[in-house]
Amino acid sequence: MTDTNGQYSDHANVEFQKHGRLSVESSATQIIVVSAKESFRNLAKTLPAPADDVLEIGCSTGEATRQLAKTGARVCAVDKSTSFVEALQDELHDADHVTLACLDGRNIPGIAALAPSPTIIFIDIGGDAQLDLVALQLRLVMRAFRPHTIVVRSFEMATLSSLVSQVEPPQLSGLHPSERPLGVDMLSNLLDLSQSTSSDTRCFAANRLGTISEEAAQIRLRQMLTDPHKQVRRAAERASQKFASANQDVTNE
Ligand SMILES: C[S@@+](CC[C@H](N)C(=O)[O-])C[C@H]1O[C@@H](n2cnc3c(N)ncnc32)[C@H](O)[C@@H]1O
Repeated sequence: MTDTNGQYSDHANVEFQKHGRLSVESSATQIIVVSAKESFRNLAKTLPAPADDVLEIGCSTGEATRQLAKTGARVCAVDKSTSFVEALQDELHDADHVTLACLDGRNIPGIAALAPSPTIIFIDIGGDAQLDLVALQLRLVMRAFRPHTIVVRSFEMATLSSLVSQVEPPQLSGLHPSERPLGVDMLSNLLDLSQSTSSDTRCFAANRLGTISEEAAQIRLRQMLTDPHKQVRRAAERASQKFASANQDVTNE
């Protein structure tokens, strides 16, 4: 199975989960968590109406995709495996309402270019996939899109959810969507990563923020100059210097 499209390291994504941004907006989206393949495929068969725009992440050999296609809804199905996507493209090439692409589900800008406003999202990146990865995928699509329903297949998430009896509502943070609109852009993701509890991830975010001229990026970079971790402060200093000299070059031209 090829995996040429992984644009994120697992380590970075696991760390991303820890960064403490708890304030996911409570939304009107209905989230259905299943653990069995059969339940997932059954929902693919019964849930979408012809007016829906469906996004499927992790289409694999297309068992659920075929069901989705039969509902008459518009379907965009992605998988990070080239071989699966190519085989499914061959099979479904006559279905004008189905778009297939070899994309990592975490590549939100790539997905949004094909499916700008999905109304239902099906996520199955492996029923036994690490909870961190599934949760990250869920959060990324919730930040980027406004579907009425998300179906997630995850054994761990189903297990955990079934054990929870009470949830304290999350606290509002500076990154709450009401203060900073949700977006599919790189800047939003970097601002999130810059709050990670992992210093490596914050260093990564600082480096990348130094390449973005938007004010929010530069404000955050300045804040990172006083980060408690020395390496992050250094990364922020280097990124600020690089940014200043790049801007100087532009002014001199
Ligand atoms: C268990 S299969 C999906 C099965 C499918 N729902 C069905 O009903 O047959 C999981 C698929 O997710 C894909 N996958 C895993 N991580 C992914 C990611 N980050 N982005 C896109 N696809 C991913 C794998 O390549 C694999 O094909």
